[in-house]
Amino acid sequence: MNTYQLIDLSLQRFSPKEVAQALGVDPKTVRRWQTRETEPKPYIADAIRQRLLPFGEPPSGEGKFRFIDLFAGIGGIRTAFEKQGGRCVFTSEWDPYAVKTYRANFHDGEGHVFASDITKVDERDIPDHDVLLAGFPCQPFSIAGVSKKNALGRPHGFADKTQGTLFFDVARIIAEKKPRAFLLENVKNLVSHDKGRTFSTIIDVLQNELGYHVHHRVINGKHFGPQHRERIIIVGFREEVPFTWDDLELPDFGISPRMGAVLHRQDGTEPDDSPYINGAKGKVLEKYTLSDKLWEYLQNYAAKHRDKGNGFGFGLVTKESTCRTLSARYYKDGSEILISQGAKKNPRRLTPRECARLMGFDDNFRIPVSDTRAYKQFGNSVVVPVISEVARIMVPHLLSDTSSEPAKPAKKKAKA
Ligand SMILES: C[S@@+](CC[C@H](N)C(=O)[O-])C[C@H]1O[C@@H](n2cnc3c(N)ncnc32)[C@H](O)[C@@H]1O
Repeated sequence: MNTYQLIDLSLQRFSPKEVAQALGVDPKTVRRWQTRETEPKPYIADAIRQRLLPFGEPPSGEGKFRFIDLFAGIGGIRTAFEKQGGRCVFTSEWDPYAVKTYRANFHDGEGHVFASDITKVDERDIPDHDVLLAGFPCQPFSIAGVSKKNALGRPHGFADKTQGTLFFDVARIIAEKKPRAFLLENVKNLVSHDKGRTFSTIIDVLQNELGYHVHHRVINGKHFGPQHRERIIIVGFREEVPFTWDDLELPDFGISPRMGAVLHRQDGTEPDDSPYINGAKGKVLEKYTLSDKLWEYLQNYAAKHRDKGNGFGFGLVTKESTCRTLSARYYKDGSEILISQGAKKNPRRLTPRECARLMGFDDNFRIPVSDTRAYKQFGNSVVVPVISEVARIMVPHLLSDTSSEPAKPAKKKAKA
């Protein structure tokens, strides 16, 4: 790829101003490169690859299997299925900031289609694929989302017409495209929402209307990292295959990494290009330390609830701890995960890089958005190694030589 092509690619992802900033040049220069008025210096190609484009080369060839990434967020589920040799052929995500992070981290590859609002996509226009992936929005079903909607007198679950019915968009795509398999991910509370009726409807549609062989299981991210994060994973196969959850390899909680594995080392051994640390030792920027006012407020709030016998409050952790679930509201006060800095200093929040590590993204993952956006995006994402492990046990069943006939109703109970 020549330098002009690299410039065009980066301008598909970022504004001329952002490209200029990353390359240390004037935006006018970028525009002149774009119109081919002037020629960029040879080093610009390397700088674009290192600072602006996703790492690695764009995918070539077919991949072991083709998948689509619905409600893609920042691509946590995609990361896991790409690691298993899959090729993404379609992505849908409507939040422009999530799209920015996604595009900064994934090459589209030839023929890949990017769509915004999935409710506006005609299922017949979606490319053929072997696996459908969807971490559909969880607010209509999550404990926090349901109580907020109740407090505001708003409907939740399927009755929430804007967010609650997105499962049915997934269902209409499965009905039309009949992929060999799917993986759906959501909060654990989906299982018990509305006394189990919501979950029964979902399983009924997948099994009896769409004819898939469905398996589900709640998995805790704590097996792979220092975060308590329980999520329901639903997988389905068009054919009857010998898939079993017994094949999962989930490391014992006792041996899984603790917070020390995700916190900045602050000993000078981390690369100095991180925007979250500075100085020779790579100390976390002061802006992540809680102000006296906020720390006092959080302590008072916790004390008040303790007196009432409630468990609310902040979650203070050290290097040896496992933390609570990182939520999309972490940007507000960070109270669910505060890092102790000793008795003499207020605790601090996680930096976005530490959130990325907590969710299992490696340090090459680019974070091109503000801290507030980044906290929301990681709080909405998946624990990548959990999905990787599920993908690992799913993939052999996609590659086995089974019939390509459309699915028939299975009329069977889901296997937990
Ligand atoms: C729970 S998050 C999924 C996160 C994703 N699994 C990840 O690893 O980052 C749900 C995503 O669905 C997106 N979304 C919600 N409604 C949508 C719609 N109608 N069309 C496309 N995307 C939508 C949200 O912007 C959000 O990023």
